Amino acid sequence: MTDPHAGQLDTVMHEARSFPPPPEVSARAHINSPEAYQALWDEAHADPEAFWGKLAGELHWFRPFDKVLEWEEPFAKWFVGGQTNVSYNCLDAHLDSARRNKAALIWEGEPGDTRVLTYQMLHTEVCKFANVLKELGVGEGDVVSLYMPLVPELAIALLACARIGAVHSVIFAGFSSEAIADRNHDAQAKLQITADAGWRRGKMLPLKETVDAALEKSPSVQKCVVLRRTGSEVSMREGRDFWWHELMAQASPQCEAAPLDSETPLFILYTSGSTGKPKGIKHTAAGYNLYAKKTFEWVFDYHEEDLYWCTADIGWITGHSYVVYGPLSAGASVFMYEGAPNWPNEGRFWEIIERYRVNIFYTAPTAIRAFIKWGDDWVTSRDLSSLRVLGTVGEGINPEAWMWYHEKIGGGRCPIVDTWWQTETGGIMMSPLPGATPTKPGSCTKPLPGIEPAIVDVQGQPVKPGNGGWLVMERPWPGMLRGIWGDEQRYREQYWSKVPGKYLAGDNARRDEDGYYWIMGRIDDVLNVAGHRLSTIEIESALVSHPKVAEAAAVGRPDDIKGEAVTVFVTLKAGTPGEELRNELKQHVREQIGAVAQPDDVRFAATLPKTRSGKIMRRLLRDVASGSETVGDTTTLEDFNVLAKLRRDEK
Ligand code: WT7
Repeated sequence: MTDPHAGQLDTVMHEARSFPPPPEVSARAHINSPEAYQALWDEAHADPEAFWGKLAGELHWFRPFDKVLEWEEPFAKWFVGGQTNVSYNCLDAHLDSARRNKAALIWEGEPGDTRVLTYQMLHTEVCKFANVLKELGVGEGDVVSLYMPLVPELAIALLACARIGAVHSVIFAGFSSEAIADRNHDAQAKLQITADAGWRRGKMLPLKETVDAALEKSPSVQKCVVLRRTGSEVSMREGRDFWWHELMAQASPQCEAAPLDSETPLFILYTSGSTGKPKGIKHTAAGYNLYAKKTFEWVFDYHEEDLYWCTADIGWITGHSYVVYGPLSAGASVFMYEGAPNWPNEGRFWEIIERYRVNIFYTAPTAIRAFIKWGDDWVTSRDLSSLRVLGTVGEGINPEAWMWYHEKIGGGRCPIVDTWWQTETGGIMMSPLPGATPTKPGSCTKPLPGIEPAIVDVQGQPVKPGNGGWLVMERPWPGMLRGIWGDEQRYREQYWSKVPGKYLAGDNARRDEDGYYWIMGRIDDVLNVAGHRLSTIEIESALVSHPKVAEAAAVGRPDDIKGEAVTVFVTLKAGTPGEELRNELKQHVREQIGAVAQPDDVRFAATLPKTRSGKIMRRLLRDVASGSETVGDTTTLEDFNVLAKLRRDEK
């Protein structure tokens, strides 16, 4: 949310600490020096198509591609004419080697139950579920909607879709039935997959119940597969709802991976934009697969014997790329944990790392801030010496949280990879490499090979070194989004219109004298709450849909744990301000969008401050929300008294 011109980045700007890659890590790293990184980047820069074309040889091709890239801005086609299969690359590709009996997934449920699936076992389950999908009438191009806990079956379902060319749309289990219905409708989903419930902090999240409400408003969905996870009571509608285990009991374990065109849609993942309607970001098979695989290998310096744990839910892009597709196509052993980090106590993660000897750990700054708050004792009582590489994603990490992560979790020995990327980019774009890049706390350092960022002003001209500006990408890359589902116009407008010829990421950034990038927050009204993107307009629309609300403005305010918390200002057309209505409005947003979007503060106002053209002055409201004084220019305020009134009215 930082305005690059407001000079609010002083703390990071003065960050002078730098940490070279630890020699023990470099000694065995695949990319082991700054020069080795630079050589790879230069190679990609000199001839990107040759670079990616060569790497694509690491995927299995049923039919070789004729051309690496067809670029008709803003539409890219990668590995044109080729046929591959993402599920084949994640599974079958490993069955002729010692990886066959290697753990692909090591999973632990919140109650402590565990499961291990080798590549062979995962292959069998995926083949069976692919046959289940076919039995249910799902074919190439059909959209399958998933609303599931973080269990192996979610990964199995994704890979089964990929195997037959169905398109998955995963909806994070924190969204409401309204949100599921919207997404199902937008994607015209044909099949729903869910579970009876999921575990969260010892309680059951009633997933099927939420899906039942969603399906009332999802006419395109004909059938629903239900996984029994908790054993809780659910209602099953005859002819529509089917138990996962019953279907699987009948399914054949034989299912060849379909040879699919490189540009076959692999998935849709909805993310918030600057308007009220979530965008269905579209990714396609071959380019995404290659990009997830290579970035996983580069950034985490994965070695065959490592155990890798990414704490993200598969409901977000991080889980798609770095729980499922990247690590599995690299033949990695992935650890998955279903539940909350503070169940049964705040030491759960460290106990897991100690017990399973996790080597690579990838989490979010918001989690790190919570760990700090919970106290060091949970950490210091555990043996974390197996860890070699630590990662973060989702938002910038405050240098102090970085230092804590480095010292307390990494024991001062583990490089931290601060990975910058987006749902749209498919994979990590900028990040240190553990054995090659000196790190600076708070910087995502440098672009990966094949990635060419630039920082431009509103005219699209490069800014002076050290100045903040819009972050853009100068060249297409294999993992890039292929569009917004069903909305070509919005795709063009959102990403390709403001700076012609370049991909507009939507973040402000600055590049320092060493060529290191520092992300400075979003350029639009998108909030980043606990590493999740929320649209202010979506929250405002939800509020205005309440019969008592006249007008609403949602803004972010700094929060120690979540990074940003959501404060909403509302004017009423009925009802009385007070605690009861405050709770009613919070609950209303929860029902409309989901628990992820529930406002932290609801503040009542007589009027909202607006410019002469009627735009709500969010900058002022942000100041009010965070309790800081208003420093900006207020001469365009329609009502000069409004700010003073705001401060008086509410509370
Ligand atoms: C937005 C993308 C990428 C997976 C998780 C979020 C912010 C992400 C960083 C980072 C600073 C970051 C950006 C970006 N962001 N990683 N390392 N440093 N900011 O995916 O929901 O698509 O959000 O998250 O603002 O644009 P997403």
